[in-house]
Amino acid sequence: MEAAGKEEISVEDEAVDKNIFKDCSKIAFYRRQKQQLSTKSTYQALLDSATKGKDSTKFQILNEATKVPLLAEVYGIEGNIFRLKINEETPLKPRYEVPDVVTSKPRTVRLISSSGDAGSLVLADGKGDLKCHITANPFKVDLVSEEEVVMSINSLGHLYFEHLQVPLKKRATKENKEDTSVDTSQENQEDLGLWEEKFGKFVDVKVNGPASVGLDFSLHGFEHLYGIPQHAESHQLKNTGDGDAYRLYNLDVYGYKIHDKMGIYGSVPYLLAHKPGRTLGIFWLNASETLVEINTEPAVKYTLTQMGPVAAKQKVRSRTDVHWMSESGIIDVFLLTGPTPSDVFKQYSYLTGTQAMPPLFSLGYHQCRWNYEDEQDVKAVDAGFDEHDIPYDVMWLDIEHTEGKRYFTWDKKRFPNPKRMQELLRNKKRKLVVISDPHIKIDPDYSVYAEAKEQGFFVRNHEGGDFEGVCWPGVSSYLDFTNPKVREWYSSLFTFSAYQGSTDILYIWNDMNEPSVFRGPELTMQKNAIHHGNWEHRELHNIYGFYQQMATAEGLIQRSKGKERPFVLTRSFFAGSQKYGAVWTGDNTAEWSYLKISIPMLLTLSITGIPFCGADVGGFIGNPEAELLVRWYQAGAYQPFFRGHATMNTKRREPWLFGEEHTRLIREAIRQRYTLLPYWYFLFYRAHVAAEPVMRPLWIEFPKELNTFGVEDEYMLGSALLVHPVTEPKATTVSVFLPGSNEVWYDSKTGTYWEEACTVKIPVTLDSIPVFQRGGSIVPIKTTIGKSTGYMTDSPYGLRVALSTKGSAVGELYLDDGHSFQYLHQKQFLHRKFSFFSGVLTNSCADKRGHHPSKCVVERVFVLGLKKQPSSVTTHSSDGKEEPVVFTYCTTMSTLSLEKLSLNIGVDWEVHIK
Ligand code: GLC
Repeated sequence: MEAAGKEEISVEDEAVDKNIFKDCSKIAFYRRQKQQLSTKSTYQALLDSATKGKDSTKFQILNEATKVPLLAEVYGIEGNIFRLKINEETPLKPRYEVPDVVTSKPRTVRLISSSGDAGSLVLADGKGDLKCHITANPFKVDLVSEEEVVMSINSLGHLYFEHLQVPLKKRATKENKEDTSVDTSQENQEDLGLWEEKFGKFVDVKVNGPASVGLDFSLHGFEHLYGIPQHAESHQLKNTGDGDAYRLYNLDVYGYKIHDKMGIYGSVPYLLAHKPGRTLGIFWLNASETLVEINTEPAVKYTLTQMGPVAAKQKVRSRTDVHWMSESGIIDVFLLTGPTPSDVFKQYSYLTGTQAMPPLFSLGYHQCRWNYEDEQDVKAVDAGFDEHDIPYDVMWLDIEHTEGKRYFTWDKKRFPNPKRMQELLRNKKRKLVVISDPHIKIDPDYSVYAEAKEQGFFVRNHEGGDFEGVCWPGVSSYLDFTNPKVREWYSSLFTFSAYQGSTDILYIWNDMNEPSVFRGPELTMQKNAIHHGNWEHRELHNIYGFYQQMATAEGLIQRSKGKERPFVLTRSFFAGSQKYGAVWTGDNTAEWSYLKISIPMLLTLSITGIPFCGADVGGFIGNPEAELLVRWYQAGAYQPFFRGHATMNTKRREPWLFGEEHTRLIREAIRQRYTLLPYWYFLFYRAHVAAEPVMRPLWIEFPKELNTFGVEDEYMLGSALLVHPVTEPKATTVSVFLPGSNEVWYDSKTGTYWEEACTVKIPVTLDSIPVFQRGGSIVPIKTTIGKSTGYMTDSPYGLRVALSTKGSAVGELYLDDGHSFQYLHQKQFLHRKFSFFSGVLTNSCADKRGHHPSKCVVERVFVLGLKKQPSSVTTHSSDGKEEPVVFTYCTTMSTLSLEKLSLNIGVDWEVHIK
């Protein structure tokens, strides 16, 4: 390690220092918005002059005090989405509009306009059940669905728009009139942070002055909101009190505090509101620092005599107000009108894209540590997995694998022959992931630096030179990934010829891309640093990491000439990052509370479009005791991205270092992961093609059941499995809530079942992972586990059939080569459908477009909830062949087990149980 790096690690080793990071009181645009709102200035829409363009309806909005005109545009977008854009009509210079997040130009639908009562305009989506009802004075928008107002915008009058102004100095010379929109008097200057904002020793000089925007949304009848990651907080959003807000500002917060609304590594400015019968989404497309206030007014009951019958009907509704505030940019908000959770997922993915289809290996277990010391260490750890019969797929190398933290290089002493090391892994059908951060060591002899420097590819400081900040390598410059040319060049660094020592089993990890700048304000980049197009960093801070992952993923695709799927893990992210790979929750701590919070944190990511997510297993900071480590493996095995990781100076913690018993328990947890691989792969396919989250909060599967809305200690994997990880030390029981009416739930291990919604106390020992299969589902599994996923291509399948109260079940399987794009371009895939109905289990084709021959057979079928002992079981092939099957029936558990079958997975067949 180099001196600079070491010094910074010791700074980071302390618990989160709240003085390093701002709270709301230290954020000037927050103070300004709050101050202005207390004096209430109103906006008026000039609806008489509304014009209808090809895509949108436009009208002016005027602030009573400033008279500066804003331009509002309302778009109807295919799939029941509305978009509202508000910008200055004639800004002094263009304001930043976030590019590259909305996938392609969303198709607009023509809105039919009619004028409502005097002073209002109604825009309907053509089908007539959705309307935007715009009121002129004061300006307000109501979203009406089936004659019911579901959302009101600016009904609280929080629309706030700081128009760009001529800087004070210039103004004086030009003798411009004093502006009245914000108080610019000298004594208020500092407090309002209009042109300059101080934080500790840092001064943020704002050449463009104040440019903040804000708007309120009232969600009628809604009390449950979710989303706006990333916070180490509950799944359900909490009310924000005075001086408190959810902050979206990507920051490197080592050992972040839990149950806190401070911004950490990534931001998705998108939230969902849910009530029985309707789910809504609000996507606030802004990449500058953003604050979100939430306030729920519970339903108040008024008697008829107090209010009259009509009013009473309205007043019993609860309401949640959401107030978005951003430091700069424009107001660009998408209203996703549902009505179901899956409609909202589709609407959001229509805008930002779905999860990239991951290569199969990336769903296996990943072994990471800062750092595996050298080639010998890698070899020994790799062998350790085989010695202890623990499957794993990916070995990871952290920053120490490089020559002085120069990414794309290898430390020659520790890793003299990286290709040989990769051959070793390749022979075991395993992969390697190495780290590549966005900061580039300032060293003219380092070719990556020299080239980037020469081509002007770094972010610049406000004086025009390259921005310099300290990170792992010491003083570094930061690649400007917002520049398409920089991305193109960065992508090219991954070609095998450019990246010496890399092979096609090497994949990438992007870290520190908030970006992390050790001596910068809040450990990040100065907001007045300059990016491509002359945009200030403040405009796009939250999207910096998104662009690095985009360029990396593109680089991996290109090095394979477009053939292979990439795998890229990123720490920082934004809306749409799902298109480029996976996300993890950063530097957590080896404590039970962090294990517990990983569930709501991952649920929130999962429903905001980022299903491929995980938390460092074991906790990154500190040394987990054996029990915590085991519990973490058990939880991680049932979370989408499954990687063990630990910081420097922690004790080694490979799975076999805690005694035989704990090794056995960890082995078992990882093996369960591999057993369920076919199910995981299918869930990721659904995330990819249909925007369905992999890990789901219960409310998504049971959207009408209020008692699921706040659950965050258990969740669904797809629609078939309910998982309740043990997150308490020395647990002897867990209380598991089994939701739904008319459901039956089976304990995956014992087969015990429960009918009707109930909370059950399950006894647990250290080897219990409470997982329940929902009646009515069929889950495909692998019956033989290999050293890694690569060994399991031809291994046989099993089907776990859990019968519903009606004695039926359905399930699916998706299969392709697991690594290329052939599934997409050549339709080389297999999509099968299983159903169990009236005693017949059927395997049929679910998607005739696909073809992918497979030698695999279904070898075992296990039926849960078969109430009657069969007299015969026979298999029937499509050519009419019938064969008897030996079976075992257990009367006490009502289970049927069929073994030694040999039914090809890819062809039609039936099993008759009579
Ligand atoms: C950051 C990452 C961590 C990594 C370390 C060194 O702290 O979050 O995962 O090990 O940097 O690269």
